[in-house]
Amino acid sequence: MYLQRRNRILRTNAAIRSLVAETILTPSDFIAPLFINEGTDYKQEIPSMKGYYRMSIDNTITEAKELWAMGIKCVLLFVKALDEVKDNTGKEAWNKDGLMQRTIKAIKDAVPEMVVMTDVALDPYSIYGHDGIVENGEIVNDGTVEALVKMSLSHADAGADFVAPSDMMDGRIGAIRAALEQNNFTKVGIMAYSAKYASCFYGPFRDALDSAPGFGDKKTYQMNYANRIEAIKEVMMDLEEGADIVMVKPAMAYLDIIREVKNTVDVPVSAYHVSGEYAMIKAAAQMGWIDENKAIIESLTSIKRAGADLIATYFAKDAVKLLT
Ligand code: PBG
Repeated sequence: MYLQRRNRILRTNAAIRSLVAETILTPSDFIAPLFINEGTDYKQEIPSMKGYYRMSIDNTITEAKELWAMGIKCVLLFVKALDEVKDNTGKEAWNKDGLMQRTIKAIKDAVPEMVVMTDVALDPYSIYGHDGIVENGEIVNDGTVEALVKMSLSHADAGADFVAPSDMMDGRIGAIRAALEQNNFTKVGIMAYSAKYASCFYGPFRDALDSAPGFGDKKTYQMNYANRIEAIKEVMMDLEEGADIVMVKPAMAYLDIIREVKNTVDVPVSAYHVSGEYAMIKAAAQMGWIDENKAIIESLTSIKRAGADLIATYFAKDAVKLLT
């Protein structure tokens, strides 16, 4: 057989394959999400997220040091608020001695170079488990944005490097950016969850924080997963309003959206490989149905190949161990 081109030449062995690999994962691609709990020396596995834990601040510090030593340079913080501080205003979210604020300070003290990002949304503090303030069964937009602004300023004041609004209210990026400017937080960035879909893949996360919505769902603020063009609209508006990084979430069922966003914007794109995506790999591996390590690297590589410059993933540590 005469062939002008033989594509298999570039796949001949591992050395050649690695020479021509288009996508290479590195530790600084990853953002490690951390779940914080009150207490001391507390470390509890999340039942639906095998191998992932909620930790008190002291253990979180140990974890942050370990992450930094491994080359992971960014953490994204989520807190599990106590029931007694939950209400329908979210005011605990800007308590200057709140769990989030104490955690930010503790991490910045212990590992000053670590890039600390914070989740900005009211769900951990809401008696309804919704991302915003509820009035007559509706999640109100403008009142919620005012609360998110206070929350963001409080995180900035505690030392956060980036605030990451995950609530999907309209106008929150512009309002947060203006407030940061007015209060002289000119070094604080905004990673906007711009294209965040109403997804069933957040289930295990809501177990982790005990933050499942008490009524209804999040479809009046999070996006319909049937839509692609709308993602571009959301991303472009967040950029006009002042976002530094835009995010697509979840990741693996939304690789087309990641690519579309990557081709459209001139800022870094992040993708959130969410709790349900983590849980699926863990569960299948536990059953012996897939090879966990291979699934981790293949999944994360596909997310980067799709266009993600940064990947928030519960597999950050596992991935780094597998890469080195
Ligand atoms: C809260 C928030 C959620 C996640 C990140 N921030 C849950 C939700 O919107 O219901 C999901 C993360 C994950 O599933 O890993 N605003």
